[in-house]
Amino acid sequence: PPDAAFDEPLGDGGETHQQTSDPGATLTTQQGHPVADDQNSLRAGPRGPTLLEDAILREKIFHFDHERIPERVVHARGYGARGEFRLTKSLARYTRADILTDTKQPTEVFVRFSTVVGRAGSFDLARDVRGFAVKLYTRQGNWDLVGNNIPVFFIQDAIKFPDLVHAVKEDPDRAFPQAQSAHDTFWDFASLMPESWHMIMWLMSDRAIPRSFRTMEGFGVHSFRLVNAKGESTFVKFHWKPRQGLQSVLWNEAVKINGADPDFHRRDLWDAIERGDFPQWDLGVQLFDEATAAALPFDHLDATKLIPEELVPIEIVGTLTLNRNVDNFFAETEQVAFCTQNVPPGIDFSDDPLLHGRNFSYLDTQLKRLGSPNFTQLPVNAPRCPVMHFQQDGHMAMVNPTGRANYEPNSFDAGTPRENPDVGFRSFAAPVDGVKARIRSESFADHYSQARQFFASQLPIEQKHLGDALVFELSKCVRPDIRARAVSHLRNIDETLAKSVADGLGLTLPEPAVAAQPTRELDRSP
Ligand code: HEM
Repeated sequence: PPDAAFDEPLGDGGETHQQTSDPGATLTTQQGHPVADDQNSLRAGPRGPTLLEDAILREKIFHFDHERIPERVVHARGYGARGEFRLTKSLARYTRADILTDTKQPTEVFVRFSTVVGRAGSFDLARDVRGFAVKLYTRQGNWDLVGNNIPVFFIQDAIKFPDLVHAVKEDPDRAFPQAQSAHDTFWDFASLMPESWHMIMWLMSDRAIPRSFRTMEGFGVHSFRLVNAKGESTFVKFHWKPRQGLQSVLWNEAVKINGADPDFHRRDLWDAIERGDFPQWDLGVQLFDEATAAALPFDHLDATKLIPEELVPIEIVGTLTLNRNVDNFFAETEQVAFCTQNVPPGIDFSDDPLLHGRNFSYLDTQLKRLGSPNFTQLPVNAPRCPVMHFQQDGHMAMVNPTGRANYEPNSFDAGTPRENPDVGFRSFAAPVDGVKARIRSESFADHYSQARQFFASQLPIEQKHLGDALVFELSKCVRPDIRARAVSHLRNIDETLAKSVADGLGLTLPEPAVAAQPTRELDRSP
């Protein structure tokens, strides 16, 4: 009965009183009014007009009309699961973050895997980057490691992100093409952006058509900082290594799977968890100091570069296990809000300009997508540690500070949260100097060495897949000049690849792209 709810506390953000499993419970409106007839609207006579007075009809239609929220502007199609993270090796020497130092207590996590380009209703096996976003509910607040299954990115500066996304997503006039195939706008943009070619090599490789979410790697991409109790900083790159191994499908398999089962990846993850075959990933870190960073033959602040494991080995420090499917797709997977700026004390940012843009972008877009600055009160987003601040009100405020001062400083003691320099977040005191200008460092200028290195790292059959993918995708591009410009970049990466792609497209081999960038060879010695 509706009045049973009055005995239960309201407003802890985790309770919903509208779903009951009591057999024979009475249907109510949102306002809790018991409903007598859910089959017929209120009419003036059996064949007469429907009456505006029918609040039950109006409420039902009104709520239905508002069921959809905007889909994510990118990564709209995703699938989430819950689990835990266990640290196996303390990084106390490098950080004071509890989650990276406490090997005893597991930490609850929520993970959302996604494609980038397709709409929420698109298919799973598009050739695309996959999102690998992890929310770790640490005892010092949420840590969102918002990564991808590819360790580098298309662009170096966040100011190009809207252009990249406009070029790759559907055109505003026709609302296609979709994620599956390449097209003129994407290749036009990419062929004018030499910095994107390392990422494009990964995108054309088998990595971009994973067999399962369970068989993908994950990467935090950017350099972050770890900061220890003494205030000393060490750079870090984060990696997720799947214990299931790394597996992909072939393109013709992907096309068939998309036709037969567009939900292939989400079904695979759900089924594995339901049958108790919990997928696991090891967390790896590459730790390096300023001197090592300075000696690298590229700039680690440039998100189009990775740090070869030969130069900075990966240390495995913990394990992520996904062991519980969501109870409610919308409440959890759709409403989860990840943001790169969510880091606990002991984890901090590098000066990667792409990361700085992301730190602004996620919160901004989520205010629109979720509609309220109080989305941190939704159970999937709420920290699992005490939350004490002076923010109040706004749309849908469920937990509002009352019974204590709501400002700071104040002279009321009772229950008022205070700053705490011992445990609080303090940004790493990085020295900064420079001239304010729209400039890019020369150290970001080498766009081809790592693209070449990636191609060389592939097995002959993988290289063939990559070449075939380039021919197939570029064949979707109508303008011959764009095709030629794309191949001109390949000439700076691998001549054999450039020639085979040009042959596949029936093109005369174009001159190498003049990117005016030095292409320094990486030192690959152990
Ligand atoms: C969403 C990763 C670059 C803006 C996402 C998601 C992932 C991701 C995994 C999906 C989150 C989810 O599952 O809810 C990355 C990576 C990047 C990158 C690894 C580069 C290294 C950027 C940049 C921007 C950006 C440069 C903007 C400046 C967004 C936005 C969303 C998003 C607006 C939608 C968020 C939402 O609606 O909740 N990104 N992204 N991303 N990303 Fe990125």
